[in-house]
Amino acid sequence: MRTLLLIPFCLVYVAAWSQIVNGQDEFNYDEAKVPEYLLPNVLTSQDGTNITSAEQWHQLRRPELVRLFQEHVYGVAPGRPQNAQYDVFESDNSALDGKARRRQVKVTLQQDGKQHSFDLLLYLPQSDKPCPVFLGLNFGGNQTVQDDPAIRITEAWIRTDDHRATEDSRGSAASRWPVEQILTRGYGVATVYCGDIDPDFDDGFENGVHSLFPVSGEGPADAWGTIAGWAWGLSRAVDYLTSNTEINADRIMVMGHSRLGKTALWAGAIDQRFALVISNNSGCGGAAISRRRFGETVKRINTSFPHWFNDNYLQYNDNEDACPVDQHMLVALMAPRPVLICSAQEDRWADPKGEMLAGVHATPAYELLGFEGLDRTELPELNSLVGDRIGYNIRPGKHDVMLSDWEVYCDFADKHFGKP
Ligand code: GCU
Repeated sequence: MRTLLLIPFCLVYVAAWSQIVNGQDEFNYDEAKVPEYLLPNVLTSQDGTNITSAEQWHQLRRPELVRLFQEHVYGVAPGRPQNAQYDVFESDNSALDGKARRRQVKVTLQQDGKQHSFDLLLYLPQSDKPCPVFLGLNFGGNQTVQDDPAIRITEAWIRTDDHRATEDSRGSAASRWPVEQILTRGYGVATVYCGDIDPDFDDGFENGVHSLFPVSGEGPADAWGTIAGWAWGLSRAVDYLTSNTEINADRIMVMGHSRLGKTALWAGAIDQRFALVISNNSGCGGAAISRRRFGETVKRINTSFPHWFNDNYLQYNDNEDACPVDQHMLVALMAPRPVLICSAQEDRWADPKGEMLAGVHATPAYELLGFEGLDRTELPELNSLVGDRIGYNIRPGKHDVMLSDWEVYCDFADKHFGKP
C-alpha cells in the first residue's frame, strides 16, 4: 500500500526534476500570472478592412496572413523544384503478417544541377479502393516507426552522439506509430524522417533541402527556417502521394507531434491539398497563443532552436504583442478544412489552454465560411473531443503520442469524412 502511494509522488517528482534540469522551471505556469493581451482579429486585415465575405477571406485576408507568417515567423519557402523523381525501391503486398501493403519510395528533388533525396515509407490497408492516409514526419528515421527489417535505415544526421542510425533503433518509436491499429481503422500511414528533409541543427540554413536553393551571405531576414523546410518536404511528399492511385488524393491528412506538430500546422496552412490537419502537443510556435507567455516563450524557443524560424522572429523575444500575428491565425488558415488540436495534461510547457484558445479565436474564420469551429472558454474534461471543424482534445499524461491519440485522430477523420 505504501509503495502504491509513493508511485504518484515519484512521478510528480520525476516530472518536476526534468523541468528543472531543462531550465523549464523558470517559466510561468500560473494562469493568474498570464498577462493581459489583445489578440489581432483574424477578420480585420492590416489596412483595417473588415472581412465579411468568403470571397474577401480567400482573396484578401488568407493570402495576407500567409505572407505575415512567412515574413515574421517561418520564412518564405520556394515553389516546387524544377524536377522530381520517384523511385519505388521496395514493395510488399503482405507486410506486417499480411495486414499491410508496404511501399518505400525514394523521392529525389532536383534544382539547378543539384539534388536532394528523402525516403517515404508507406503502409496501406488491404483494400482495392484508394485509401485515405495520415502523413507525418518522424523524429529518428523511418526504421524507428516499426520493428520491420525491410525498412531502409536513414543515412542522414540523427540526434545521437555519433549522428548515425543503427539496427538497434528499429521500432524504437513504434509506440508513437501504432500502424496495425491505424490500418484496422481503414487509414494508411505515410512517413518521412524529418532529418532526411532538413537536419535539426543550426547550420545557417545550408544543409538539407536548403542546399537546393542557396542564398548569398546571411540571406534575407525572412529566409525559410527548418520548420518551413520540413513543411516544404511534406508538400513534396504530397506531390508523390497524389500521383499514386492507391491513395485517395482528396484524403491526405497531415499529423505531427511537438516541433513536427508546429510543422504540420504550417504545412497545412500553406498547402491546401491537406484535407485535414492534426497538431499534437505543438506548443510555442505551433498552436499555443504566444501572447500568453505560458510555459515556453518566443524568446526561449528562439534561443534554444534559432534555426526553426526566420530571423525576423527574433524581434518578438519578450515582445510578443508587437507581432502582427499570433497562433490562432495559423489555425484559421486551415479554414474551412477540419483541424484537430491535441494537448496532454502534464505538458504544461506546451500550454494546453493556449493551444485550445488558438482554436477558439480561429473560429470566426470558420463561421464566415459557414462552418462551426470551437466555442468555449475553459478546458474540456479529459479525453472528450470537443468542437466541430476545429476539434480539441486533452488527455491525461505527458508530452508524447500514444495509441489513444491515434484513436482520437481516426475518430475525428471518421466524423468529417465518414469511416473508410
Ligand atoms: C522542446 C521545445 C518545444 C518542442 C519540443 C519537441 O521541448 O522547447 O518547442 O515542441 O522540444 O519538439 O520535442
